[in-house]
Parts: sequence; C-alpha cells; structure tokens
Amino acid sequence: MMKMLSNLSGKTKLRLKSLISAVGLMPIARVIYRRQYGMSHYADKIAFIKRWAWLDTEDSNFYYRLTEMNRDQLAQTVATVTGVTPTQVLGYFAELEGDDRLREHIKSGISSARYGRDIRVEFGRRLGWYAFIRVLKPRVVIETGVDHGVGACVITSALMMNASEGKEGRYYGTELRPDAGKLLSGDYARFGQVLYGDSIETLQKFDQPIDIFINDSDHSADYEYREYQVILDKLAPESLILGDNSHATDKLSRFSAEQQRSFLFFAEKPLDHWYPGAGIGISFRRGVASQVAC
Ligand SMILES: C[S@@+](CC[C@H](N)C(=O)[O-])C[C@H]1O[C@@H](n2cnc3c(N)ncnc32)[C@H](O)[C@@H]1O
Repeated sequence: MMKMLSNLSGKTKLRLKSLISAVGLMPIARVIYRRQYGMSHYADKIAFIKRWAWLDTEDSNFYYRLTEMNRDQLAQTVATVTGVTPTQVLGYFAELEGDDRLREHIKSGISSARYGRDIRVEFGRRLGWYAFIRVLKPRVVIETGVDHGVGACVITSALMMNASEGKEGRYYGTELRPDAGKLLSGDYARFGQVLYGDSIETLQKFDQPIDIFINDSDHSADYEYREYQVILDKLAPESLILGDNSHATDKLSRFSAEQQRSFLFFAEKPLDHWYPGAGIGISFRRGVASQVAC
C-alpha cells in the first residue's frame, strides 16, 4: 500500500489525501485493494491479447488446448453420457493428441491453403467430439460449419480408427464458403465430404439417419434452432446432438426439453489463450450407452 502510494504523482497524492480525509482511510484502502485484485485476474489476458493481435492466426474459431483439469472434466462428462469409464475416454483423448500423422496433415494443410502463417492447431473441446465418435461408433456424423476443416479432420480420423475396428461410418460437413474445408483431403477425405451451400438447405435434402449431429455453422440463436428442427425427423433413435453454441444460447436445451431428450453442458477452459472458452451442449436420450458398439 505504501509502495503504491509513493508511486503516485504529487497532484494525485493531494487529491487522494483530501479524499481520505473526507471518507476515511479504510474505505479508500479497500477500494484500491479491490481494484488491484480484480485487475490482476485479467492482466495476463490483456498482455496476451497485445501480442496475439500482431500474429497471422485465426480471427475466430480459435485453436488451443484445454487446462488439465478441464480435460479431465470433459472425460468425466463423456463417460457419464455414454456409460464407459473415464479411463477409456482419456485413452481416446490421448489417441487423438498423440496422432502425429494427423498433426502433420493439419500443419501442412494450413500452410498450403495459406490459412495463417502463425496458426498452431490444438483441439480444445473437439477432444470430446472425437471421444464420442470413438465410443459410439456412428454410421453417419454431420458437422454444420467446417471452416478450415480441423473438426472435419478430427471426426474423420475417429471414423478411420472405427473402420480399422470393423465399424464403418461417414462424415458430412455443411459449409457456405467455397474456400473452406481444404484440410479435408488425402486419406481423411476417404471418410467424408463437405456439402457446400447453406446448411439448412443441405440438411433439408439430407436423406440418411443421423447418428451424431454437431451444430457449428451460423451461430445466431434462430439459425441454430432451425437446424435442430430440420434434422428432427432424420435423427436415428439413439442419436446424439452436440451443440457448439450452447455457451451462448439456450436453443439446444430448449429443443431437448421439447423432444424429451436429456441435456448437459460442458464448459470449456482454454489453456494459454485470452478466449474465455465455448463448450459442448450435449443432447441425448437416456440410455445412449446401450448403443455403445461391442
Ligand atoms: C465456427 S466455424 C466452424 C468450425 C469447425 N466446426 C471446426 O471445428 O473448426 C463456422 C463455419 O460455419 C460457416 N457458416 C456460417 N453460416 C453458414 C450457413 N448458413 N451454412 C453453412 N455454413 C455456414 C462459416 O463459413 C464458418 O466456416
């Protein structure tokens, strides 16, 4: 406190003195303490933003790792929904994180598509998407909104692993921008495709039962809700819906209540990034574990 006061200019000290004599020393000390305490929680983030703004990286849809504790919370969440053990889920996380071939594919794809010189891809909440697909062995996975195609690569690599265990499945991404989705190439493209155009229009034409649906396209609440309505009659009986907008809207929660589905939300905590995190809305029928492939 004394050190803080000695750093102030003469004029500010004078003002502070008259304020202290007006309201007393303790309330002022408390205000100063509270101000410093609150600010200290954001100082690292602000310093990070100042460096990050100069980098040639993603402007949205950020790539980062989860904190260790948050990674564990995600494993517990996936395990609770599917009925497998958290250890099994952590094994799937490690499988994805340790997939050097996938990392190399994404790294060279980002570079050749010139998506951003300084982009370093980490998977964040997509670890959860991967684990759900590895546990449930779906035949059809839809992801609306593809962007660079990191989600597409994560999903198709899970499908690739499932296929090596005799459980075939296919990925369909919906995407408006023709320049998006370039990472879905090579071996990964053997397990899925991007359907270009407006997501709602594409979903209206889609004619296969959907096992896992991931909403991540237009993030307005109204559009998100319309996607759920369009796929309602196309969902397989034990389908899983993962919402990438559930940190911002209650649409998946509301849709789940209307359709007698259960709903959970996993809140993401990024490591080494200023972004506060999104999450995974999880809409499922109780007993989804019963469809876990043996
Ligand atoms: C958040 S990004 C998707 C990120 C991706 N799922 C991933 O895991 O990296 C959202 C994407 O949705 C696309 N998009 C926005 N509105 C859309 C629409 N109406 N139909 C299809 N795609 C749309 C955007 O072009 C953008 O690429």
